[in-house]
Amino acid sequence: MGAIVYLNGEYLPKEEARVSVDDRGFLLADGIYEAAPAYHGRFLRLAEHLARMARGLAAIRIDCDVTPLAEISERLLAENGLLDVEYAMVYAQVTRGAAPRTHAFPAAPPPPTAYAAAQPLTRVPRERWERGFSAVTVPDLRWGRVDIKSIALLPNVLAQQAAVDSGANDAILVRNGVALEGAHANLFAVSGGTLLTHPLTNQVLPGITRGLVLELAAEVGIPSEQRSVFLDELRAADEVFLTGTTAEIRPLVTVDGRPVGRGSVGPVARRLYAAFLETVQALVGAAR
Ligand code: PDD
Repeated sequence: MGAIVYLNGEYLPKEEARVSVDDRGFLLADGIYEAAPAYHGRFLRLAEHLARMARGLAAIRIDCDVTPLAEISERLLAENGLLDVEYAMVYAQVTRGAAPRTHAFPAAPPPPTAYAAAQPLTRVPRERWERGFSAVTVPDLRWGRVDIKSIALLPNVLAQQAAVDSGANDAILVRNGVALEGAHANLFAVSGGTLLTHPLTNQVLPGITRGLVLELAAEVGIPSEQRSVFLDELRAADEVFLTGTTAEIRPLVTVDGRPVGRGSVGPVARRLYAAFLETVQALVGAAR
């Protein structure tokens, strides 16, 4: 059975979903997206994902209420047989709609195009996680408002491809000597026992997983600081890891081919991953 997706008020087979070639998402990347994880049919922090989407839409002046997306997301899990799978994701995207191509907003605003789809995700097997991952640093070529989850992801695409081309698992975006975040995940370093991550500015995405990880760190007594992490500091860090909806907590054991710390997964990443998995377990358990 093929996937069932949501498009502009309808649930339909993915292969029947059609969007106009005049859609401003297609022509101009004029839209906002969101990706939210679900574990055994229970969303982790869906309200926060939707709040971030609402902020993004408001910031680019697309008038669209995201409230129905909560119910749509639940229904997509059900329609696609994902209520019992360990790990899944709902992707949602809203564009400014279809109108003859102009740079400025269309004089007569079209209805926004709203699309959502659900898919299973595979968590990396524990033994793979234990070996850790590699990253390369690449210049951050993104625009000045990456706190907005815009569908214009070309710099992220090219950064991730640079990682693939050099045989690495992930890319770390660097601007003015500061290691900001990954191509699709937030970045943390551990130095002298303190967890470091870039503050919430226009230069990083306010990741929902990032927020959760900071909360978990506080709960388990790991001190944290939100400040710029310079590339030199990243290279000298004891541990480095990424966080995100698809990354969960992903330890990096090499950066640009050099080992991070001892070149193996460190205790802070391990402690936080355990706490993260407990949070997921509690979410799933509460539903049973
Ligand atoms: N990416 N930073 C960037 C640039 C991202 O694209 C993402 C998420 C994150 C992590 O945010 P969160 O914890 O809320 O997932 C940080 C999604 C998963 C994607 O593009 O597929």
